[in-house]
Amino acid sequence: MSEAITYWAVVPAAGVGKRMQAGRPKQYLQLAGSSVLQRTLTRLLQADVFQGIAVAVSRADPYWPELAVSGNPLVITAEGGRERADSVLNALQALHGQASDNDWVLVHDAARPCLTISDIHLLIATLRDDPVGGILALPSPDTLKHVEEDGRITASIDRSRVWRALTPQMFRYGMLRAALQSAAAGEQRDAVTDEASALEMQGLQPKIVEGRSDNIKITRPEDLALANFYLEQQC
Ligand code: CTP
Ligand code: MG
Repeated sequence: MSEAITYWAVVPAAGVGKRMQAGRPKQYLQLAGSSVLQRTLTRLLQADVFQGIAVAVSRADPYWPELAVSGNPLVITAEGGRERADSVLNALQALHGQASDNDWVLVHDAARPCLTISDIHLLIATLRDDPVGGILALPSPDTLKHVEEDGRITASIDRSRVWRALTPQMFRYGMLRAALQSAAAGEQRDAVTDEASALEMQGLQPKIVEGRSDNIKITRPEDLALANFYLEQQC
């Protein structure tokens, strides 16, 4: 008899939000009467598919215990790391003993509170039988240029072959952990800016699933107003 496949979520939330230039990490800024991280985790909980959600936060983060969602029985707190990939790996370790190698893990940025439940379900429905896994992504609406260091364009890039990587990114627990561990030990560790890149380094080819363009990552101050607008539209 085959074991039932379980889904887990991992949320890296240990960044400092340098580009946001706010008085606190961006995941704790106010957004539509709540906070960014509270909203992100609420969406994941509403999807009603996860056995547990491991959240990586900085050590001695004073804001995390104040969030109502940090006390949710499905939420598991892990310690953040130096880079995003280290935070994700710590959160995966926190699931050790509970998650099986074949279980699926959806890694989702704390800073993407506008993720829709329909995109979570689309990602899972598309990839549940995939041998590798994959990510939500978007085609580029703009023409793309290759630029040299002197600021001059040397070529136009075929737009149909370039996609913007979003989250969630969905991989098997065992495969993802091994790929991140191997990347952390290697020379290209700085190149691991998302989960897919760690899998790519293993010679694997994650699949693209086209997501919604309102799944923005709050990065700069102006993004907060945009996130507010999208959340209003989604209600
Ligand atoms: N993140 C993390 N641990 C780190 C760095 C980042 O868990 N050491 C998380 C962030 O909290 C965020 C996600 O990874 O939810 C995406 O990273 P990014 O948007 O770059 O956030 P920050 O690193 O906080 O922002 P900045 O790069 O502007 O400092
Ligand atoms: Mg960062």
